[in-house]
Amino acid sequence: MSERKYRVEKINYEVLTPFGPSVMTGTIPKNIYVQFKDMVEGIVKEKKESHAERLAGRIEEEWTIGEEYLWQTQVEEFLISVAQQYGEEVIERYYFNQFRLDSITDYHEESKKTSKVGCNIVGGWVNEMKSSEYNPIHYHPFCNVTSVFFFNNIDEEFIKEMIAPNNKVISGAPIENGTSGDGTLELIYKSMGYFEQGTLRIRPKEGMFLLFPSSLLHTVYPFISDKRRLSASFNFILQSNHGVVNFGER
Ligand SMILES: [Fe+2]
Repeated sequence: MSERKYRVEKINYEVLTPFGPSVMTGTIPKNIYVQFKDMVEGIVKEKKESHAERLAGRIEEEWTIGEEYLWQTQVEEFLISVAQQYGEEVIERYYFNQFRLDSITDYHEESKKTSKVGCNIVGGWVNEMKSSEYNPIHYHPFCNVTSVFFFNNIDEEFIKEMIAPNNKVISGAPIENGTSGDGTLELIYKSMGYFEQGTLRIRPKEGMFLLFPSSLLHTVYPFISDKRRLSASFNFILQSNHGVVNFGER
């Protein structure tokens, strides 16, 4: 059968994705990473205040990051700035969509009319996950943005033994890196819809960070390893005079 030839040469188009949560991902700058990891390791050593009662996970070692650890550190500045950036990106994306639909002429100008995004850190903790522990599906109440900072690669070196090693596919796709979904984080937005993803699976990398709405469900799958899976999380409240970035004022 001959290949079908379309007679239309060029169509100008753009695909907008205006609905659903925004996920920010990036890499912690090197100098911040060193200080951040020192702080996290220090907290794990001190083990002074168990956070386990307040969290959802089947994890024995969860520790609060008290304000005294963050106060006026570069890590605190870094956290505030990425969270503010998240809010500003969400507002800019809103205006970008309007601009593309010709509702406004300059989305940068419109974005600037929004006041600076205010940010408060309202909680933080360290997760030290060991072999066979897991974090069931949960969300974070009393805040609007949450975050995860990873201190390990979850790869074939980390995984000692794959769970169900004879199963060579996961969700219909071949297993990559020899780890299947073991030790990965999955964000759950909704069931699969037509032409859209309902969930997003993320394989932790050392120095990687994520920010996403705190209302978004998420889970960490169990793994078998001699090493611990180390991550830190912070909850934030972002406020602005724009409808898409606020907390409780709708
Ligand atoms: Fe969480």
